[in-house]
Amino acid sequence: MAVARFGNSRHLLLLIGVLCFLLLLINFYKTEVHNHEVIVDREHYLRHIVPRGEFADRKKEADAHIHMIPAVAPTTRTPYPKRQEMGECKPLFGKVLVFVAYVESSMKTHYKVAQDSLHCYLKGVNYTTAFVDLDHDKRVKENCPHDQLFFKKHCAASIYLQDADWMLVLDADTAVVNPNHCIEEWIDDRVDIIFYERFFNWEIASGNYIVKNTEFARTFLRKWADWQYIQPSNWNGADNGVLQIHILQTVLPDAVEEIKACDAIWHKGTDYDTYMAYVTCVKVMLGANRLWPGKVRIYRRAHGWVRDGFLTGDNFCDNDFMLHGWKLQAIETNGWNSPFRKMFNVSECGTGYLGWNYRPGYKITAEEIRKRLAAFEQSSGNSFPKKAQVFPYLSQPDIGNCYPKCDDLT
Ligand SMILES: *[C@@H]1O[C@H](CO)[C@@H](O)[C@H](O)[C@H]1NC(C)=O
Ligand SMILES: *[C@@H]1O[C@H](CO)[C@@H](O)[C@H](O)[C@H]1NC(C)=O
Repeated sequence: MAVARFGNSRHLLLLIGVLCFLLLLINFYKTEVHNHEVIVDREHYLRHIVPRGEFADRKKEADAHIHMIPAVAPTTRTPYPKRQEMGECKPLFGKVLVFVAYVESSMKTHYKVAQDSLHCYLKGVNYTTAFVDLDHDKRVKENCPHDQLFFKKHCAASIYLQDADWMLVLDADTAVVNPNHCIEEWIDDRVDIIFYERFFNWEIASGNYIVKNTEFARTFLRKWADWQYIQPSNWNGADNGVLQIHILQTVLPDAVEEIKACDAIWHKGTDYDTYMAYVTCVKVMLGANRLWPGKVRIYRRAHGWVRDGFLTGDNFCDNDFMLHGWKLQAIETNGWNSPFRKMFNVSECGTGYLGWNYRPGYKITAEEIRKRLAAFEQSSGNSFPKKAQVFPYLSQPDIGNCYPKCDDLT
């Protein structure tokens, strides 16, 4: 009896095993087929960066925005003075819109402290706002079929950008820590699109950016969103991974071999460390340049309007405006105090520092922040993934596939 039962359960196990294997097989084929479609699409999309005598066709290809140089990009930046004593933010650059995209479920369980600080700030300034529920917003439903949230967000941004002259796009976990700033302080009117580098890994950050309402910027955002459909299927960094090559193509469209080199490294990513080799590749190809007039500016680490809060344990100085990475619903939870000694009551916010209840000691000098950042910078460099410390021009060809035509676009 016992032997028979044992035999039965063995058969059962075998059956389950076979079923699992079949399921896996079906899934594998589904994925394969799916990937195949993606790759075919991708080939089509990347055609314009493949130099096979098709240079003339490139202008007609998908990345039309690359060739839309705004006619009137100023050659010098219009200066904008730092906000004084919570005073006026003169609308020198027209109508500024603050855009936050979210999904209902995570807004209910996260981000309350960050969002309250933003709302408190917004009560003291004259910017317009768009808080967009990506699942239910009518305009998003009509225009953005994307089903991956981060890509959908950039599509939604391209739609809402039409309502403003400039738009600040914020992650839901971005908080205002020091409201004595105007958004315009970071608007550089020599460009249409403004990003910054993530401090700990030098990646161009995708969550927060400033864009001008131009066809170039709207198309840039829409194309970025549409990468959802053609992104590689390996560990690719999602929309943030896409952003690196999207910027490289936008600012250096003629660097065909370099774009292909980074693209090849991107496709080899299997985890964070190998993905970072691709980030390094794009960074090497962009070099020390951070400003492409009429197109894009990338602020140096910790010089944008926002940086990660954990770099300095949420300590901040005069120069800081926003801190990124506040995901909690309340202060004094999970061992996190925050620079505030009590939760915001947004109805108490308004002019001046009303409603900003600071915890003493969190605001420190710029020199103290500099020292902390210097230490963090050094440790990030020392612990940077070994697999990401690559010299892309040594491992990838820039002659081998295109000689003797490699310089034709230059
Ligand atoms: C908002 O607009 C009002 C009315 O024009 C102005 O008095 C005030 O200074 C503005 N606030 C800021 C922060 O610019
Ligand atoms: C927020 O502030 C308003 C105005 O001072 C007050 O009426 C209200 O009770 C406060 N709400 C909370 C939850 O403290």
